[in-house]
Amino acid sequence: MHPATGSPSRLQGTRETITCRLMENTHHPNGSPWRNFYGRFKGKTLRPAQIETLDEDLDRLSVPNVSWDVNPDRTQLDLQALFGQKDLWLEIGFGGGEHLVHQARSNPDVGIIGCEPFLNGVAMLLQKLRDTPCENVRIHPGDARHLFDVLPNESVSKAFLLYPDPWPKKRHHRRRFVTQEHLLPLYDVLKPGAILRVATDIPDYVRQTLQEVPKAGFEWLAEGPSDWRTPWQDWISTRYEQKAFREGRGAHYLTFQKPHA
Ligand SMILES: C[S@@+](CC[C@H](N)C(=O)[O-])C[C@H]1O[C@@H](n2cnc3c(N)ncnc32)[C@H](O)[C@@H]1O
Repeated sequence: MHPATGSPSRLQGTRETITCRLMENTHHPNGSPWRNFYGRFKGKTLRPAQIETLDEDLDRLSVPNVSWDVNPDRTQLDLQALFGQKDLWLEIGFGGGEHLVHQARSNPDVGIIGCEPFLNGVAMLLQKLRDTPCENVRIHPGDARHLFDVLPNESVSKAFLLYPDPWPKKRHHRRRFVTQEHLLPLYDVLKPGAILRVATDIPDYVRQTLQEVPKAGFEWLAEGPSDWRTPWQDWISTRYEQKAFREGRGAHYLTFQKPHA
């Protein structure tokens, strides 16, 4: 189980539950569809201060009722209770949270949910939120697909997918976030006219993004090369982008829109 979300991470459980999984192979015993997740839930050992921050702050800042264990019926989230009338934005895979905090500070009238299954990243965001409290941030410390289940359709007006895991080997391309398994439910939860931003340093990721994201129904808004070479006006560089620059890779900034109804 994921320590924070209760989501399945490996083959584990009693002989009975394992057999049940092997027989059906489509659902976890808690009712969740079996969703392979190939990323990391935990990296370096968390420092005692990070564990303390997670213990003290994560529950309060988490989006409630996302995990299958607490919400097996997949009751839709009460966004009014979370953010009142604020517009809702979503950042998928926020890493260390620098972009999320930047957007939250610059847009106090917006509510932002950040998803990140990597607990070390969640701990980094929580520390940033201690240093710079932002009332308009909530966290889903898990896979974005579980959040898509319970977000009301047409509820999100902007989504960020910044430097998603590259999965460079060809046989791993189907693990990339820009596959229909992720993009179709993302499309559903976005409002007509909503914007999806994708940043990547990997040319083959650009190729797959330009192939798969329009297939899911989005329009690419670029009119010329400067549109994908120039960072967005409100951009702040992320940790992963800085690493890419250090290693000599360039950035691509792709902007998509869900068509107006
Ligand atoms: C390469 S890192 C980039 C992090 C950050 N956006 C940045 O630019 O520094 C990709 C992140 O996406 C997260 N991720 C992978 N699959 C995810 C999923 N299904 N839902 C949410 N986040 C996911 C990973 O845990 C990882 O932290």
